[in-house]
Amino acid sequence: MQDKIKKILVINGPNMNLLGSREPGIYGSDTLESINVKMKKKAGETGLDIEFFQSNHEGDIVDRIGQTDAGGIIINPAAFTHTSIAIRDSLSAFKGRIVEVHLSNIFAREEFRHRSLTAAAAEGVVCGFGAASYMLAMDVLTGS
Ligand code: DQA
Repeated sequence: MQDKIKKILVINGPNMNLLGSREPGIYGSDTLESINVKMKKKAGETGLDIEFFQSNHEGDIVDRIGQTDAGGIIINPAAFTHTSIAIRDSLSAFKGRIVEVHLSNIFAREEFRHRSLTAAAAEGVVCGFGAASYMLAMDVLTGS
């Protein structure tokens, strides 16, 4: 049996800081802060430590993955999903559990979004459920 995860790192990639005003017809009206607040509340209820990191810079995301002491990562690599071998490799080097998430259903969108370079490094992907994608990923990592 896997050890219980004590700490989760939530990573959001480029433009995720603009949620709320960014293409609300696709991404909804939740801000990143409001999603983080929901996750923090859920983590608090189960005594889980949770950290949040958003960056528009690929190398900063690679550095953060390489430095974390978290037991699990929830990552929305955003546009880097479709382009970044560097983030894929850093996820592959991470020793804990990983769930990739997307707000939108990337398979119902433009063809260039159908391919995820990062997903193969994750245990699974939750996509298409808006903010609930993140909450479902938390359920997976906490076993609830
Ligand atoms: C996204 C989907 C990506 O294709 C896009 O580049 C994003 C957000 C999502 O959460 O739906 O920035 O990862």
